[in-house]
Amino acid sequence: MGIFRRGASYDLDGRRVLITGAGNGIGAELARSCHARGAKVVAVDIDADAVARLATELGPRAVSARADVTAPEDMRAATELALESFGGLDVVIANAGVTPDPGMLRSTDPAVVRRVIDINVFGVLHTVQTATDALAASGGHVQITGSCSAFMPGPGGAAYMMSKAALESLARSLRLEVAGSGISVGIAMLGMIDTSLAAKTLDDDPYGQTLGAQLPSVLSSRMSPHDAAEAICGQIEKRAARKVIPTPWLPLDLARGALPYLEGLTLKSKDLARALAELDAR
Ligand SMILES: NC(=O)c1ccc[n+]([C@@H]2O[C@H](COP(=O)([O-])OP(=O)(O)OC[C@H]3O[C@@H](n4cnc5c(N)ncnc54)[C@H](O)[C@@H]3O)[C@@H](O)[C@H]2O)c1
Repeated sequence: MGIFRRGASYDLDGRRVLITGAGNGIGAELARSCHARGAKVVAVDIDADAVARLATELGPRAVSARADVTAPEDMRAATELALESFGGLDVVIANAGVTPDPGMLRSTDPAVVRRVIDINVFGVLHTVQTATDALAASGGHVQITGSCSAFMPGPGGAAYMMSKAALESLARSLRLEVAGSGISVGIAMLGMIDTSLAAKTLDDDPYGQTLGAQLPSVLSSRMSPHDAAEAICGQIEKRAARKVIPTPWLPLDLARGALPYLEGLTLKSKDLARALAELDAR
């Protein structure tokens, strides 16, 4: 049963791996790390040029496709591409995700929230659903890119926090549901990784800068996308259900039951209160 596979060795050499959001950031590094281990890679992204460049860089064991994860037909076509190119599929990495511009829930257009949930949650659902038969045939693995914001949400970007909390439950439920089909499921709970998504959220906006400054440096220092991808590959190789990356976030995950009771401490920061008032006034 997949559920008992933790610790088993699952060599990526020769595996057929489909990755969404592979055009940039963590997804592109995941493609490189899997490929360096001998995997055959199907790189998928809404940014067709970015994944085409990546496939050219990787060479013959890689193909690319433009696919929007919110469109089930695009994800079906991506799975088909894996079957045609490599004869099957062993690993699907549902990694594509977006953040909204900073904003308060009370004034955010619900369409913005819907769009984030559509990409970050329904995108993963479509990725997984369209690949399940192929993964059952190979006894494969589903890997999901989650976030520590699932258990430690901050203010000013609630759509993202909501989406990643939903994704955590999706991953845990799915793991239990598909274990009998020989498929394992893992979720990586990521802290701060140095990509354009993190820069957009925390560097490019004055509110994000204030929010980021609230975190102790051990949490706010950003891991490189390469190191994050290597850690995620290590998780896949163990078929582990869960991995917190980087490790300074692990104590918070373990103590997560206490976090909701401590959230009020955040509001003691005058800088954050001022930044939230300014965000509200926009
Ligand atoms: N960077 C971080 O600090 C951090 C922390 C926790 C979790 N994550 C998660 O890691 C994943 C990758 O993020 P990243 O930091 O590499 O961001 P990124 O912006 O560098 O890359 C995201 C990729 O997803 C693609 N994408 C966006 N919408 C898409 C769609 N509808 N269909 C297909 N592809 C689409 C983009 O084109 C881009 O190539 C996301 O799920 C993100 O939530 C990132």
